[in-house]
Amino acid sequence: MKSILLLMGPNLNMLGEREPDIYGSDTINEHVETATKFAEEFGFDLIHFQSNIEGELVDEIQKARGKHSGIIINPGALTHYGWSIHDALVTFDGVIIEMHLSNPNQRESWRHTSVVAPVAHGSIIGFGIHGYELSVRALHKIIGNNAK
Ligand code: DQA
Repeated sequence: MKSILLLMGPNLNMLGEREPDIYGSDTINEHVETATKFAEEFGFDLIHFQSNIEGELVDEIQKARGKHSGIIINPGALTHYGWSIHDALVTFDGVIIEMHLSNPNQRESWRHTSVVAPVAHGSIIGFGIHGYELSVRALHKIIGNNAK
């Protein structure tokens, strides 16, 4: 079975409560349900992991090697300075989609840099919860039928 690892970084456990004007009112469970629904539509299992701790995300990326067809990652604020996430992603042998709910380029200047973008196949940003569908579609397109 092909599978996708959906990784979420710091503060995304607060979805629904945290700045709903920016991130929407759906809870993290609703985000995961949405992502799972689209993953299944495209024949993927979806495994979700959220952590506020950088090293735990690194551990999950390392474990994903040889196991998942792709990673959809929203690293939260670690996007902008989390070089250990960048380095871990370099070791991953599948497709990497960077995803953000908001469009960081429209926001504070410190959000304009992503240390993840250079190691991702592509980035889906600014489409809120619809980003999961777009990310799964992109991942599926890249993998084709050759997924592990
Ligand atoms: C975010 C954007 C980041 O700048 C921010 O720190 C987040 C969420 C997004 O999904 O829009 O935590 O990754």
